[in-house]
Amino acid sequence: SAPTQDELKALVGQAALQYVVPGQIVGVGTGSTVNKFIDALATMKDQIPGAVSSSEASTARLKALGIPVLDSSEVEEISVYIDGADEIDPRGCMIKGGGAALTREKIVAAQSRRFVCIADESKLVDALGAFPLPVEIIPMSAQRIVRQFAALGGQASLRMKDGSPLVTDNGQHILDVTGLRIGDPLAFESAVNQWPGVVTVGVFAHQKAAVCLLGTANGVRTLS
Ligand code: A5P
Repeated sequence: SAPTQDELKALVGQAALQYVVPGQIVGVGTGSTVNKFIDALATMKDQIPGAVSSSEASTARLKALGIPVLDSSEVEEISVYIDGADEIDPRGCMIKGGGAALTREKIVAAQSRRFVCIADESKLVDALGAFPLPVEIIPMSAQRIVRQFAALGGQASLRMKDGSPLVTDNGQHILDVTGLRIGDPLAFESAVNQWPGVVTVGVFAHQKAAVCLLGTANGVRTLS
């Protein structure tokens, strides 16, 4: 029978171990695919000094498996950053932030020499924008930013959790924007980054993936 999405995530989570450099710190992203990677990483925990994590959720999972978690600010350079994506295009540009961890993900990715993206093949798209784009914002800027997206043809809505605005690990809010077609991810990321109140836009074009491991029914497909 065809592999389930969960099995495809486990496949790429396991495959990502070959990018972990023994003796070096590994950067760890967030999400259900990364959770499979963290589980696999536990089998190598005696070979690495530890991990830098992009979220409270990943930190908790790493620690529960006995993998030391180091502070991003204590570490100079990370050899490899392993993370999932919500969408990835053929050039390695991504939409991220479905799990609300985009800001720390971008920080750790920027600190890392190489970004290895792990995903099931449903995440591969020709052009970014079908997945609602997450944007972390300072709460008081919400109205203006909603209008700025409307001017680009996008509909932005505040992400909610249990009846209140979701609060990120950084104490801010998230807008999810539909209706955008992001033809030039680099230019789009640069432009939205300039809007007052934007903390992080969930387009990863300046920190794109160098390698992407896609889980398919025929095994792992590697794009690089
Ligand atoms: C977290 O903020 C996101 O960037 C994740 O990388 C993304 O949502 C992928 O998550 P899944 O592996 O659960 O699809």
